[in-house]
Amino acid sequence: MSLFIKKPINQLLEDSAESDKGLKRTLSATSLVALGIGAIIGAGLFVRTASAAAQYAGPSVTYGFILAAIGCALAGLCYAELSSSIPIAGSAYTYSYATMGELIAWIIGWDLILEYAVGAATVGIAWSEYLNNLLVSVLNMPPIPYEYSHSPFQHSMDGVNGIINIPALVIVTLLTMLLIKGTQESAFVNGIIVITKVAIVVLIIAIGWGFINPVNHATYIPEPSTFVDDHGVAHNFGGIMGILGAAGVVFFAFIGFDAVSTTAQEAKNPKRDMPIGILGSLAVCTVLYILFAHVLTGVATLEDFRTTGKEASVSFAIEKYMTGYKWLAQFVTVAILAGFSSVILVMLLGQSRVFYSMSRDGLLPKMFSEIHPKFKTPYKANWFILILVGLFAAFVPGDIVGDMTSIGTLFAFMLVCVAVIVLRKTNPELPRQFKTPWVPFVPILGILVCGAMIYGLGWTNWARLGGWLLIGFIIYFGYSKNHSILRTQHKVVTPDDPNPKIVE
Ligand code: ALA
Repeated sequence: MSLFIKKPINQLLEDSAESDKGLKRTLSATSLVALGIGAIIGAGLFVRTASAAAQYAGPSVTYGFILAAIGCALAGLCYAELSSSIPIAGSAYTYSYATMGELIAWIIGWDLILEYAVGAATVGIAWSEYLNNLLVSVLNMPPIPYEYSHSPFQHSMDGVNGIINIPALVIVTLLTMLLIKGTQESAFVNGIIVITKVAIVVLIIAIGWGFINPVNHATYIPEPSTFVDDHGVAHNFGGIMGILGAAGVVFFAFIGFDAVSTTAQEAKNPKRDMPIGILGSLAVCTVLYILFAHVLTGVATLEDFRTTGKEASVSFAIEKYMTGYKWLAQFVTVAILAGFSSVILVMLLGQSRVFYSMSRDGLLPKMFSEIHPKFKTPYKANWFILILVGLFAAFVPGDIVGDMTSIGTLFAFMLVCVAVIVLRKTNPELPRQFKTPWVPFVPILGILVCGAMIYGLGWTNWARLGGWLLIGFIIYFGYSKNHSILRTQHKVVTPDDPNPKIVE
């Protein structure tokens, strides 16, 4: 039987109609936009911006944001078409099962673990940085010792080696427990946090604008040179290549708008609300990010972001340069801790829904789709994901998991763009509440822009993505292929038939 066996779209829609057995439909369009912004503004902005400026592009990190936003908008238009025509849980994974077949769906599902689970770990690590900042700058307490708040692959400027990142581990555990209690409650908590988060970004832009030191922006696009990072890896700094690299890094800041699509099965009116949720949240964030990055690189120097201001960079910049605004630095620290929590929550939510779908299809063990009798959440999937996320959060440095998240997501986005083109050919009659404009131009451009950012992330990240996909193949051919429900129930689908039917 073909590796590219496809799940018939009718069957997908029937699956989702069995809502009694499945997840509750509780999310409105507004909660989806809030969910999107909740997932979007986070460590990418408050941690990765400074690091992209320091390591890749200087102030021209703002151009990186523009490029990343273009890539996301193009992929977002493709996501919106798919999620409005196939409104069920599982995101890009589900769409590709129907359009490009099982193997590609598996690759995407596996790849999405990089986006959601490894992404959640990245934000957990950033949370840990700001927790130490809270202890020292707000509560005047000693920080958690370096060795217990950093991975074994990091060392401080005084030569202390990290052992384990305990705060990162604690936050992902607490949020997993909240998630298991139920999506509705989680979305409510999320709503409050989103408002605070947007408020601090606006405050920093408005107040920080007056503290921009023109000297810091004098060379907006640095001359091309080479930068050697903390792990001894040399990469491009400055020029076009620097901007491409920075775009790949800060792309992380946009990740999450697509997490909205993973909750399609819980949306009240998925066909209308999904495109609003995805594109609405993306638009709001793009404007804020560009302004924020411009202010941040104008207030503090690159040298700061390479040394003492490397961690909790935003609070650092405010405290050091914005005299009289210590309260803002403190407020930002508290709000960021809450804000990061909402990001982790949505990522964990997205990941458990992808596992849920893959498990219902038999590609992952059955237990991942078991729903809690009282809370109606896939609790076993949540616990398992916690182990995975916890390992990354506790033992891997933030910039490595951050870049792995970016590259994994970019790759998934490229495949989503391909899926739109394929689905238009194979299922032209499918009702589409939202249609991607100018197909195939928009998806092709999406593929090119995302591909350029992958290129900018450099060979170490390509190798990590390759290694990750290799592990995925081993699991697919060792387990998933033999347990696939489509295969084991002897349902035969002719792969090239534009309207495939199941034959029992
Ligand atoms: N976009 C999310 C963040 O920046 C993942 O934290």
